[in-house]
Amino acid sequence: MRVRASFLTAPCPSESSALARPVAEAHLVARCVHGLEPAVAAEILQLGLGTVTHLGHREVHFRASPSGPRAAGLSTADDVFLLAAQRPDIGTTRRDLDALARLADAADVGTLMRLREEQGGPGGVAGVAGVAGVEVSASFLGRRAFNRYDAEDAVGRVLARRLGTGYHSRREGTGPPPSYSGWRLTLDGTRATLMLRITDRPLHRRAYKRHSVPGTLHPPLAAAMARMAGIRPGHTVLDPCCGAGTLLIEAGLHQPRARFHGFDLAPESLRAAKGNAAGLPISVGRADAGHLPLPDGGVDRVLCNPPWNGQVAARGRLSGSSSHWWTELRRVLAPGGMAVVLLPDAGDVAYGIRHRFVPLHVQRVRVSGAQPFLVQFALPGGRRGS
Ligand SMILES: C[S@@+](CC[C@H](N)C(=O)[O-])C[C@H]1O[C@@H](n2cnc3c(N)ncnc32)[C@H](O)[C@@H]1O
Repeated sequence: MRVRASFLTAPCPSESSALARPVAEAHLVARCVHGLEPAVAAEILQLGLGTVTHLGHREVHFRASPSGPRAAGLSTADDVFLLAAQRPDIGTTRRDLDALARLADAADVGTLMRLREEQGGPGGVAGVAGVAGVEVSASFLGRRAFNRYDAEDAVGRVLARRLGTGYHSRREGTGPPPSYSGWRLTLDGTRATLMLRITDRPLHRRAYKRHSVPGTLHPPLAAAMARMAGIRPGHTVLDPCCGAGTLLIEAGLHQPRARFHGFDLAPESLRAAKGNAAGLPISVGRADAGHLPLPDGGVDRVLCNPPWNGQVAARGRLSGSSSHWWTELRRVLAPGGMAVVLLPDAGDVAYGIRHRFVPLHVQRVRVSGAQPFLVQFALPGGRRGS
């Protein structure tokens, strides 16, 4: 059977079809937190990265615009891949692993390496020369008579041979050297899909995040919240419980012409936020979110995941009740202002409504084993979205 090495989103090829064809354009797959698929699709369109062709569970497929901006700049995705080859899912026996080797054989590795560089990945590759090595991460649904390492090795060895480079097997339990090309294989019961990561390391790992604190936010989720807030040049943006500063840093990267202020009570959070935000125009200070050193109505946008999800203790005026947090939020936010917050359950969303915030958008997301609500609240008055 021949397998498909195309970058198009056509229905899965049948066993009988002989579909290998030249690569015309880059077909990309952005992987993300469940619940952020629409936010990722929106960012792809806003940045002019290409045309969205499919929204699935935790993934968004798109075709890259020729000579458009690079997909490596996506902030709301965990990672972005080039679709390398696809075929119907294989069977469940060890013999079926041969079909994975054929899948790897069908990938147009030279073109993939060129497209990877065009999309902002590692460069300096003439054809396939210069590829430092191959590593593969596989996952599958359903019971199989082989394990993930068997599947990874089946494709990894073929890819390495074709690229004339080494293969790092995860079987030994050690991570691959950082410069190795990262391939991903998924067997979802319907399709076997082989993809090539564009960047050296996953997009969600941010270079700025050198310091962390318990409960710190996943950067792509913080980026989605910042984009949802509609921050404009000149806006004053506040995170009253800033932790390691992720929300303000992502917001600052998205809209550098706003002013950013973060507060926290914990010295370790303040240290982390200052360390991560070093060199960025973000002020960080010690204050209780229930009693902020800010004038009435001086804030245009609030971004926050407050400390009531059990992972982080609410301290000071917030211990015992979140009421002071909402009251203070209402006081400092300008009429017509907006707060984008991550709340652990529906009761907290109702609490915001009781404090006369108007929910404009409520979205459940799945992150770190929890399913909090991402809520965009407006404060009535002023001009909408001002
Ligand atoms: C869930 S964490 C925020 C994480 C942050 N968004 C990040 O990405 O790192 C909640 C933060 O609230 C802080 N906190 C707890 N009680 C507070 C209070 N009364 N005032 C200000 N900050 C408080 C904690 O120290 C913690 O850093």
